[in-house]
Amino acid sequence: MKITVSTLQKLKQEGQKITMLTCYDASFASMMADAAVEVLLVGDSLGMVIQGESSTLPVSLEQMVYHTRCVAKNAKQSLVLADLPFGAYQASPQQAFEASARLMAAGAEMVKLEGGEYMAETVQFLVQRGIPVCAHIGLTPQSVHMFGGFKVQGKTDAGAEQLRRDAKALEAAGAAMVLMEMVPATLAREITESLHVPTIGIGAGVDVDGQVLVVYDMLGVYPGKKARFVKNFMQGVTSIHGAIEAYVREVKGKTFPAPEHTF
Ligand code: KIV
Ligand code: NA
Repeated sequence: MKITVSTLQKLKQEGQKITMLTCYDASFASMMADAAVEVLLVGDSLGMVIQGESSTLPVSLEQMVYHTRCVAKNAKQSLVLADLPFGAYQASPQQAFEASARLMAAGAEMVKLEGGEYMAETVQFLVQRGIPVCAHIGLTPQSVHMFGGFKVQGKTDAGAEQLRRDAKALEAAGAAMVLMEMVPATLAREITESLHVPTIGIGAGVDVDGQVLVVYDMLGVYPGKKARFVKNFMQGVTSIHGAIEAYVREVKGKTFPAPEHTF
């Protein structure tokens, strides 16, 4: 059955975990759909893992449209979520709508944008015009130069309070989902319990409504140092399909992320 925003909402209500992986092409889309991954994220992380850039900032809307079309071709029942890239939505709600419309026309069924409370007006503008939105808070990689690196967010009292406010404002604006990246597990849990819409975590502990990882990271393909929140699911299996199935099993069974993947 086709995964929709209603399916995701229902999974939260039933206490079942949502599975999400990044996906950049048709072949992986097919394999992830067959493993029953609910959401395929066409992430702007493709700038780093495919293009070799040192941040997500250089990724263009054209490139996101291209990869979204590739993924949508074979996504089957899985929901296609596409990132709005840096520079394509921050200027105004109108700019965000035009960019989102391109992604939706390419096959996206929801768009993701980075930013807290200050993006609420844009979220509302998109939602009122028929575009489901996932809001990405905490470590928002497009702001890496403001943060001065890829660091855990919400560690101070003021930082934690801002994240609580961000999540509430984005939900009130109509966001269908809130993704939290590199947030202390206790805070992510508290925010998850305070929201009606599902939360997705990456480096946010196990007590959120679902998990996401960059597929190259969870297959052990990406060179360099493994981030704390990443697990290599190729260990103990003999195929990529097996690794994706193991990820789904561990997220659904709440054994991933374990304490060692958590802040
Ligand atoms: O682009 C991406 O891969 C993402 C995830 C890290 C959530 O936004
Ligand atoms: Na992203």
